Amino acid sequence: MSNRTDLIYFDNAATTWPKPAVVVEEMMRAVNEYGGNPGRSGHRLSIRATEEIYSCREAICRLFGSEHPENVVFTCSDTMALNLAIKALVKCGYHILISNMEHNSVVRPVSALEQIGVSYSIFNVFPDGSEARVLASMKEALKPETRMVIASHRSNICGMTLPIEAMGRFCREHGLIFIVDAAQSAGVLPLDIERIGADVICAPGHKGLYGPQGSGFALFSAKYTGNVSELLDTYVEGGNGVDSLDPMMPRYLPERYEAGTLATPCIAGMRRGIEFVCERGLEEIESCESALYRRLRDLLCNTRRIKVYLPQAERSSVLLFNAAGCTAGELAGALDRRGICVRSGFHCSPLAHRALGTGTDGALRVSFSAFNSVQEVDMFYRALREILFK
Ligand code: ALA
Repeated sequence: MSNRTDLIYFDNAATTWPKPAVVVEEMMRAVNEYGGNPGRSGHRLSIRATEEIYSCREAICRLFGSEHPENVVFTCSDTMALNLAIKALVKCGYHILISNMEHNSVVRPVSALEQIGVSYSIFNVFPDGSEARVLASMKEALKPETRMVIASHRSNICGMTLPIEAMGRFCREHGLIFIVDAAQSAGVLPLDIERIGADVICAPGHKGLYGPQGSGFALFSAKYTGNVSELLDTYVEGGNGVDSLDPMMPRYLPERYEAGTLATPCIAGMRRGIEFVCERGLEEIESCESALYRRLRDLLCNTRRIKVYLPQAERSSVLLFNAAGCTAGELAGALDRRGICVRSGFHCSPLAHRALGTGTDGALRVSFSAFNSVQEVDMFYRALREILFK
């Protein structure tokens, strides 16, 4: 466990906090004991840092069903990983499908690509969780020039988990590149890159993997091993300690996309965070978070003035609601004054807010981690009632 204060922290979908003490200790060890530049020099501190980086690649592979540690490209965030995956694989003229649950980390890159002749359409996922309806919506949005699908595994604002396996099958049947954003599911839901047939899984290190901010990665599937086709552009160029005489970036993973010094302390922290998650068990973490979600949902659904979005979800670690007569922002401010941290507004996911019909002020989101408790949920509910009904 870590250094909790008297705060109630329910903003774990933005970033988990606190971090496990072992993560903080590992980061300090990285700075104090193996602070060499990984992959650069032949001395012990550099070699030790390189080994640490490699062990994080292996930990990511174990979690996401890959046998190719070299296919893990480290980035400083999930957004950077998604930008890398999308821009490395897209070509002028491509049409892309994205779901109506996508975050701006997908919406904005694909919108920016319109300048180079890329277009995109939005398909719908549905509150009833219907796989068939999602596939029908994807099919309806297909065009002859469609080449790529980008989808979140789990929404960052409500309890919607997308039918990622069926979507992977759809992509295989139609010869489409499939990029999965595991921002909210990494460390909570099982995800196997080869089984779902994804080309790339992107994830942050600082959410469900309990690593620090500044960590993230793109895991490329086995088909990219040892052979990055010329079609894959680089998005940043520079040194990485290999092929130094070549003015071009290497043509293989991960070095093709890793320019500049990697964030060893962040990567070390993420590796220890992944171990923490695996030791505790994804299923156990997911069950605890879902139990907290259901407890709060049941309380809120029986409270006048409160509207819970997607109350039919049974498994979730986030809960979205509004209270009549009070904006989400005002409510979040009042909760903060009582030592309760939540996030209001649109959560960088305007498409999803539109799909749920939250309105002009967005909504208030409560999101749980493995460190939250039933007592905190009950304290939150009491504080909310005091604010709304005092
Ligand atoms: N994407 C993060 C959130 O949902 C930051 O809050």
